[in-house]
Amino acid sequence: MSTSKMPYACFLMLAVLTTQTWACMRRGPQDKKPVGDGNSVPSLPTSSSGVSVNACGVCGQPISVTIIASNQIQEPFFEIQTAVKGHPQRELLHQLEVAATQDRRFRFVAEHFGSMGYMINAINGLSASTQNKTYWRTSSHIHVDGLALGISSYIPNDMEIIMFNFTSYATPDNH
Ligand SMILES: *[C@@H]1O[C@H](CO)[C@@H](O)[C@H](O)[C@H]1NC(C)=O
Ligand SMILES: *[C@@H]1O[C@H](CO)[C@@H](O)[C@H](O)[C@H]1NC(C)=O
Repeated sequence: MSTSKMPYACFLMLAVLTTQTWACMRRGPQDKKPVGDGNSVPSLPTSSSGVSVNACGVCGQPISVTIIASNQIQEPFFEIQTAVKGHPQRELLHQLEVAATQDRRFRFVAEHFGSMGYMINAINGLSASTQNKTYWRTSSHIHVDGLALGISSYIPNDMEIIMFNFTSYATPDNH
């Protein structure tokens, strides 16, 4: 008798509304320290010389990527595209967060699968469905057969065109 299949799955609705990821904000010596309001977060590291430091250990060089989400199999069809310009090179999830911030059509829903990281459930309100055997397939112009890693692990290259393509794995036999 099986209980829930996903005792460890952490369901997260990612409503991406913020304009910046705190982890990548740079603090310079000119930044004003918050005055003791009791709610301020601990200050990020600053060097004793007053040189600004990067509080994030994983942020790379600024890169630009294009993100496309396409659905040609279920009405209403759509193809949306946005350019994410000048953001640090890091995992695709973060580029997608920026896309959702600058274009509300890219708002997405993801589910966390432990070590596999986040899997996309929905983009632009269109959800994957086990009933319809549909999912959001991820590929890019240099990995046309699909990304080998999930959005939490794959790190796009500069100028890469990332594609989320709504796809069906239904066949005449399993439909
Ligand atoms: C399954 O596909 C049909 C036809 O495209 C659609 O109307 C329906 O909403 C889909 N069901 C789910 C659960 O996504
Ligand atoms: C996207 O999916 C549609 C429908 O399955 C398919 O016809 C099309 O070739 C796919 N496009 C890419 C770039 O994979």
